[in-house]
Amino acid sequence: MAKLDLSAITKSFGATRVLDQVSLSVPDREFVVVVGPSGCGKSTLLRIVAGLEAASAGEVLLDDRPVSQLSPGQRNVAMVFQNYALYPHLTVAANIGFGLRRARMRRAEKREAVARVARLLEIEPLLNRRPGALSGGQRQRVAMGRAIIRNPAVFLFDEPLSNLDARLRMQMRSEIRALHRAVPTTTLYVTHDQIEAMTMADRVVVMNGGRIEQIGTPTEVYSAPRTTFVAGFIGMPSINMIPARYRGDALELPSTTLPVPAAVKPRLAGHAGRDLLVGLRPEHLDIRPGGDGLVAEVDQIEPTGSETLVYLDHPAMRLSARTAPDTALSPGMQVGLRLLLERASFFDAETGLNLVPPPSNLTGELTA
Ligand SMILES: Nc1ncnc2c1ncn2[C@@H]1O[C@H](COP(=O)(O)OP(=O)(O)OP(=O)(O)O)[C@@H](O)[C@H]1O
Ligand SMILES: [Mg+2]
Repeated sequence: MAKLDLSAITKSFGATRVLDQVSLSVPDREFVVVVGPSGCGKSTLLRIVAGLEAASAGEVLLDDRPVSQLSPGQRNVAMVFQNYALYPHLTVAANIGFGLRRARMRRAEKREAVARVARLLEIEPLLNRRPGALSGGQRQRVAMGRAIIRNPAVFLFDEPLSNLDARLRMQMRSEIRALHRAVPTTTLYVTHDQIEAMTMADRVVVMNGGRIEQIGTPTEVYSAPRTTFVAGFIGMPSINMIPARYRGDALELPSTTLPVPAAVKPRLAGHAGRDLLVGLRPEHLDIRPGGDGLVAEVDQIEPTGSETLVYLDHPAMRLSARTAPDTALSPGMQVGLRLLLERASFFDAETGLNLVPPPSNLTGELTA
């Protein structure tokens, strides 16, 4: 059990800075997911926590104690890698037991520990097989077993599910969460998959270009994104970004002007005349065939079963909307869009910052 703190971690490879003042506090037992595009520095951050890489500046603290002088083995953290890193010539039991190689335990004790972990992960029948004779999901479980058996203070996961097919990924997501409920351990989990981040995290850390853009609960990063980057990265299909200008009581949009609902006015106060971006999730565009408001043309229709996604072309932008599955729309139709402005996020077009900064339970974040 441990609390993990990252304090202004910076990392450069030669002249390239890949992590810039990354600060984060993970309380004991919290499950934190770090998400961001490829190359934003997620693995580097995890490797620094694990001790596989040294930070150029900043400090990692476990229970308030700096760990930079400790080797990976001394840190009592366990890392699960994307490629599982199992030993092909060892059985499943030996692979799991390998996590205990440093522990001073009697052989019978080790065997009992392996059996206990195998029971927890439901891989008891596989203990005598070698990794080559396992499915991807089973290998993933063995890799987790090797980490769990050490009873580490902190779990580090680096994209552990990206080699699995969609169905198995979903199953393993809930298994890892169930495991965390059974053995609540401080966890830092890295992925570039925003669905994984949203479904698994107690809190999500959104990274971009070596910096933290926002730290928040899944609901916070979805509903109150701090920046246009977070708004665009979280959510599928992507949030709609509509250029706008606030004048008096009205919002000037491309080709139309809308009155601003009273509830929204306080959020725009002081921003008259500025270039803004109105961020609206696809579920916050209401399609009215033949209707008024913003007029656009239906381009593509994607039924998913439970809902239908509609992609629309407007001369100034491309938009997406979520509708009921039984929509009567078809490509080429002109439709009106009602914008649920009460649900919108408003961004300064120049800085990309939300006009209303989200709640800050946030450590070491960017300031404008
Ligand atoms: N040893 C190294 N030497 C030089 N540059 C490196 C080294 N390791 C990583 N980088 C660079 O640092 C940046 C961050 O890499 P990192 O592996 O942390 O990204 P990531 O967020 O994990 O990406 P992905 O989602 O693709 O795994 C990348 O631009 C990468 O090229
Ligand atoms: Mg990586």
